Amino acid sequence: MEFRCTPADPDNLLESWSGDTLAVGLFQDTDHPVRGELIRLIGDDLQVQLERRRFQGKPGETVVLERLNAQPACLVLVGLGEPSDFHGTALRQAAASAARAAAQAGSRHLGLWLPVDDLEPRGSAMAMAEAVRLSLYSDQRFRSEADPLRQPEQVTLLGLAESANAGLEQAAAICAGVELARALVAAPPNVATPHYLAEAAATLAADFQLELKVLERDDCAQLGMGAYLAVAQGSDLPPKFLHLTLPARGVVSRRVALVGKGLTFDSGGYNLKVAGGQIEMMKYDMGGSAAVLGAARALAELRPSDLEVHVIVASCDNMISGGAIQPGAIVTASNGKTIEINNTDAEGRLTLADALVYACRLEPDAVVDLATLTGACLIALGDEVAGLWSPSDELAEALITAAEAGGESLWRMPLRRSYKDGLKSQLADMKNTGPRPGGSITAALFLQEFVTKGLAWAHLDIAGTVWSDKGRGLDPAGATGFGVRTLVEWVRQGAPA
Ligand code: BES
Ligand code: MN
Ligand code: ZN
Repeated sequence: MEFRCTPADPDNLLESWSGDTLAVGLFQDTDHPVRGELIRLIGDDLQVQLERRRFQGKPGETVVLERLNAQPACLVLVGLGEPSDFHGTALRQAAASAARAAAQAGSRHLGLWLPVDDLEPRGSAMAMAEAVRLSLYSDQRFRSEADPLRQPEQVTLLGLAESANAGLEQAAAICAGVELARALVAAPPNVATPHYLAEAAATLAADFQLELKVLERDDCAQLGMGAYLAVAQGSDLPPKFLHLTLPARGVVSRRVALVGKGLTFDSGGYNLKVAGGQIEMMKYDMGGSAAVLGAARALAELRPSDLEVHVIVASCDNMISGGAIQPGAIVTASNGKTIEINNTDAEGRLTLADALVYACRLEPDAVVDLATLTGACLIALGDEVAGLWSPSDELAEALITAAEAGGESLWRMPLRRSYKDGLKSQLADMKNTGPRPGGSITAALFLQEFVTKGLAWAHLDIAGTVWSDKGRGLDPAGATGFGVRTLVEWVRQGAPA
């Protein structure tokens, strides 16, 4: 798909549009001038059609009018909701709905006219292009015969000055990052192995001249990563610890570390997942690593100046075998802390413990980790909002703002110190699992034990948002690529913390 921005002449919209399909946004308010304008252009028939189809203009509602012997041959009307609610999210939603309807109707050249006059042109172009591309994404890699691609070849964003074209380049880089994350998450566990993630990182490194360090099992043992390796030891697949560096353009003013949980499959281990525990979905337990690699893909192209970005993933499978770690085992992490593994299914935090220690040793200005860490977070926040834990108000607020700008949602949760009692062990420094109530909070408190005191750190639990069963907003059903847009926005704003 190719995108372009062009100013539009509202008085001459139909005549001047030469593509096959024109999509126009209409507010819920029937007295709104655009509706009158359109009826004037097309004729009273339009009003009749809209009434017959009970079009109200609710957000995302669409009506497709195929027109024989007329130009354009197809008109898509998309609801915008109330004018006062028409901001970033509604703009993305409208663009996505219009694009889906147009693609279904077989459009090859789509013109998209939404009321963006009052919005910043570059940001609007970016939001609309992202919405169109990400909502029409389709993954055909695992079919013997690919379905024919239903996507316009060209999309023109009407009513935007040429200056908005700069937003399209950013959108392309971000979409490529989101698509990489989606592809990694959706790939089944017999394909997306730790080795496969290492290859994906190596491809990024080669394509964009990044530095990649891959630590093998022995290297990790040398560094004392007893928590991570305890999880990895039950699998026949060798673990891969990835450290990808995006060097700064120019003098380094800030350094950030992005850490992603990289469980390419989580069976639960000896605390095997039970019926209803969604074991068959646990390929997506590397969603955190997919998000940080996707962000690296986007940032490598956007190249923020003066910022050095480190991407860290301790990847492995959590499996059962004669060599797998036993529930009750006590292991030592690379910062010397001992952990009683009272539940082998709380494995993500064990891998992240050593990954966070490694990240902190790089002495970055901020560390953000993303992980499909707890089912409890999915229960608490559902599949649209990720949980955010951070001792730093500045970092928490910066991430929430970045998420909003990128069209993602975070909700800050408490790092309540008193809940640490739940992690007390009779023998070791801590257990890896607390009681069921507040399970996402004790998980975050566990991670904090492996972060250098005073360092700005945030943890995002993306257990709910990594996957969408039915599809929502811009996301078709399946892997969402959640987290990429938040991370990219945050880093592009200078990684405030
Ligand atoms: N990967 C899971 C968390 C998860 C569950 C993500 C469902 C997405 C959907 C994690 O490793 C896990 O198993 N967590 C346990 C923790 C418990 C043993 C304290 C959980 O949530 O049940
Ligand atoms: Mn688990
Ligand atoms: Zn897991």
